[in-house]
Amino acid sequence: MKDEATGLRMPDVVRAAVREALGGDDLRHEFAWMSWAGTVWRLEGKTRVVYVKRAAHLEGERDRLAWLGGRWPVPQLIGLFHGFGDDWLLTHAVRGQPLNDRSIPWTPEAMAARLGEILRGLHSTDGTGCPFGEAGPGHVLVHGDYCLPNVLVEDGELSALVDVGGAGLGDPQVDLAAGVWTLQYNYGPGHARAFLDSYGWKPMTDSEIEKLRRRYAR
Ligand SMILES: Nc1ncnc2c1ncn2[C@@H]1O[C@H](COP(=O)(O)OP(=O)(O)OP(=O)(O)O)[C@@H](O)[C@H]1O
Ligand SMILES: [Mg+2]
Repeated sequence: MKDEATGLRMPDVVRAAVREALGGDDLRHEFAWMSWAGTVWRLEGKTRVVYVKRAAHLEGERDRLAWLGGRWPVPQLIGLFHGFGDDWLLTHAVRGQPLNDRSIPWTPEAMAARLGEILRGLHSTDGTGCPFGEAGPGHVLVHGDYCLPNVLVEDGELSALVDVGGAGLGDPQVDLAAGVWTLQYNYGPGHARAFLDSYGWKPMTDSEIEKLRRRYAR
């Protein structure tokens, strides 16, 4: 009753898949919150943790998780289910903390520089044969929503990328725009240059940077 009232009920098929993925462990802790496009659950058993994401269309994210595995550190897919008119994506928890987590002690300058460095590494991944996006001149394997909550680190190093539903071959500026946007959103203006420089992007004027930032539309 309580779950239904808050819209946090899960279809039986999803519950059963969670139980199985937790390896028969009793559910110790469950936490759900509204995300940008739907709802996300963290479900913790004795030894394992799984995530459930509910949204209208998650086939694209499911397919990308499968292809990106072994290329980028993405969550291991458990499965995609349908219920209550939505898609339900189950993944195993990845290691690390999202970059917007309060536990990360970096200054905004350090964050901007690390964000650029990590992105340069991601963009240098071989995307040959990637079935998503478009192979065009200058195109690389892009994340598609390169903002702080979607990048996880452990001991200062990249540990995982989540929210990969928009990943594929594309213009690197897609991720640069998200990076500039997310730094301004979290820390205010003035950190784009450290990000772009550490990535190795060409020098840009303030108005070019602002134009780039506005390419990230949410
Ligand atoms: N497999 C996973 N392992 C660890 N953390 C995860 C996992 N899946 C999701 N998360 C956490 O849940 C958050 C939300 O998941 P996700 O980014 O996929 O959904 P979203 O709809 O984009 O939500 P948001 O709008 O908050 O970004 C992530 O930022 C991350 O902290
Ligand atoms: Mg996200």
